[in-house]
Amino acid sequence: MFVSRRQFVSQLAAGASLAWCFPSVTLSMAQDRRSVPRTLTTNHAAATVHPSATQAAMDILQEGGNAIDASIAAALVLGVVDGHNSGIGGGCLALIRLADGRMRAIDGRETAGAAAVPDIFVRNGKVDPQLSQTGPLASGVPGQIAAMQRMHQAHGVLPWSRLFAAAVRIAEEGHAASRSTARTLAAEADNLNRFPASRGVLLKSNGDPLREGEIVIQRDLARTLRHIADHGSRWFYEGEFAKVTCEYLASIGGILTPTDFSRYQALDRTPIAREYRGYQVIGFPPPSSGGLHIAQMLEMLRPYSLATRFAESPVAGYHLLAECMKRAFADRASWLGDSDYVNVPPTLLDVGYLRERMADFSETHASTQIDRGVPPHVDPANVPNAHAATESEDRKHTTHLTVADAWGNWVAMTCTVNTSWGSKVMVPGTGVVLNNEMDDFSLAPGTPNAFGLVGSFANKVAPGKRPLSSMSPTMVLDQQGLPVVTCGAAGGPRIINATLQVLIRTLDLGQSIDDAIAGSRIHHQWRPDTLSVENGSAEKRSERNVSLARDPFAIGPDVVEGLEALGHTVRSAEFLGIAQGIQRQGDRLFAAHDPRAQGASAH
Ligand code: GLY
Repeated sequence: MFVSRRQFVSQLAAGASLAWCFPSVTLSMAQDRRSVPRTLTTNHAAATVHPSATQAAMDILQEGGNAIDASIAAALVLGVVDGHNSGIGGGCLALIRLADGRMRAIDGRETAGAAAVPDIFVRNGKVDPQLSQTGPLASGVPGQIAAMQRMHQAHGVLPWSRLFAAAVRIAEEGHAASRSTARTLAAEADNLNRFPASRGVLLKSNGDPLREGEIVIQRDLARTLRHIADHGSRWFYEGEFAKVTCEYLASIGGILTPTDFSRYQALDRTPIAREYRGYQVIGFPPPSSGGLHIAQMLEMLRPYSLATRFAESPVAGYHLLAECMKRAFADRASWLGDSDYVNVPPTLLDVGYLRERMADFSETHASTQIDRGVPPHVDPANVPNAHAATESEDRKHTTHLTVADAWGNWVAMTCTVNTSWGSKVMVPGTGVVLNNEMDDFSLAPGTPNAFGLVGSFANKVAPGKRPLSSMSPTMVLDQQGLPVVTCGAAGGPRIINATLQVLIRTLDLGQSIDDAIAGSRIHHQWRPDTLSVENGSAEKRSERNVSLARDPFAIGPDVVEGLEALGHTVRSAEFLGIAQGIQRQGDRLFAAHDPRAQGASAH
């Protein structure tokens, strides 16, 4: 496996504006199936955060499977070798571009149980965030298996059971714990120790965490995967798994029931499509906030020539990006939630509204008074504003994988159990670690979650509701409707801004996908009013294999000083998101994994 590094000369064609609207979008790339060539490219490509998962995807493609099959196989392997980030106890969002030009957005986000009332995490009049992050109340009904089965039933070509082979084998035979697995086991050992199955599988007999390189064997998980391979998702949602899981959760104070499981459905969502620099950028709609806020920020950036701006002054470039981020995240905190439960105003994407949002942008100073906007046709009195601030750590969570096949099927899929090892609860006898996605709800207006995100009414807990996500699987199509770039990231709210910056670096700054992913990033999420920047030290750059020559916009001390002089409160961050992507140049695909993690890409 290797990653080649080539300069991608982006086509900055100022093409005619393509139609978009939200939520009922018209995608203009749908093509007559007969006009679709048998193959679009001469190769396949895949990128994930783990070599075994990338290998599993490439093996499936070699065998004649398509990108849908390969992405499922890769996601299953990630759940075994990278279980602190994702797994079948969690959820996923998959954006799919089919070879015939159709787009699908499959929502495998978790749902709250029927007994999940808004004050479920309140004790003695105060929210107890421990309850939404660790233990039996922290989980929603997992959605990943349902989403993958929906993808496979509609578009897979290899048998469902075949897609499980690598994951089952690795779970059974064991794998060497990666650096990030070992790091998260060490960080979460105390919490994992509270639950006997987690302790038995993930910790040593004396309670110590496994170290990097030590072998993790997961026989129960192998058995569970084999059952799902043989019996499909019904076994998980309506059979033995749901029964055993709910009985165990009830015994330790949980609320999920077999009915919650049997009611779970992965859903088709309508993607958000937006013209940008002559391309169509396709994003994932609510319950993700990613597609909408990326679309907002691209619209805010549209009037500016980013190539000229960054070339003349990276400080001016990053300042502009930071100001867009603040405004988008201020909107996120008030307006975004599960659109099946609340009205997410479509006018958040109104061009006039977004110009107005940037009307007070200043080239000479950072704005300090940003608040949510009020998009057209919305009564703000109905939606309380969100306030509060907190710091959040730059932890790595979640995982983004991507696969493209030679026929033109592309998959961008972000999977998560939320924070490392989810709820820390492994269901005994199953090997499955359950998510702690309930923490992605607003626990109470103004109370920040594990990522320091504040939210309000729109994202409050309700039975059956899906918590707001930042996951941002994204696709870029050219004017013929053919895919040119796909990307997405891990890292909580950093996902949105990392994905935005990969898009800008490829579409505006003309960088190859691997340079775009490796390049320095910034992150602002409105609250706290702090601009995080990836440390520009030579040491950090060399860890990411990024030389100054390769990243002309590297954030060194001069850039930090410049941003501070504009009034930004700058903090140094080790990394801001872990991204994966694929780019097509003519008939060749190029995959790139993030050098911030120990992943692999192949093409
Ligand atoms: N659990 C992280 C996210 O969905 O944004």
